[in-house]
Amino acid sequence: MMYDLLNFKTHGNYAGNLVALEKGEEFPFDIKRVYYIWGTDRDAVRGRHAHRKLEQVVICTSGSCDFILDDGKERATVHLDNPAQGLYIKGCIWREFTNFSADCVVIVLASEHYDESDYIRDYQTFLNARADL
Ligand code: TYD
Repeated sequence: MMYDLLNFKTHGNYAGNLVALEKGEEFPFDIKRVYYIWGTDRDAVRGRHAHRKLEQVVICTSGSCDFILDDGKERATVHLDNPAQGLYIKGCIWREFTNFSADCVVIVLASEHYDESDYIRDYQTFLNARADL
């Protein structure tokens, strides 16, 4: 499986909804970094890379976008539009995201600090890395 969809426990009441994420049964790793993306043109394509070691959980907290995941053999498109769901990506998976709604805000929780040497930004290098696994 290229990814998991995590369904977060939602505390809802008259005032709206709240999701709390802590390492443990509901969350798979210690969070070392958080980044977020917004104000992206609908047709822009972000990502276009894989990671060697990094684990990430991607949450679309507002609006919607599409994540395209690729393990070198198959591609899957995951439509994200639910703030109570997290897309968990682990292992060497090529990812692209696009089709952003105007109100789209994507928050990414990452298992490691930013490290350019963990990125594979060339698709053929990614295929070679997959072949070596
Ligand atoms: P990049 O990973 O290329 O974004 P995307 O894959 O979403 O298109 O990052 C864009 C810029 O932001 C790049 O100059 C690196 C910088 N950056 C950081 O400094 N820290 C981070 O945690 C991330 C994810 C990016």
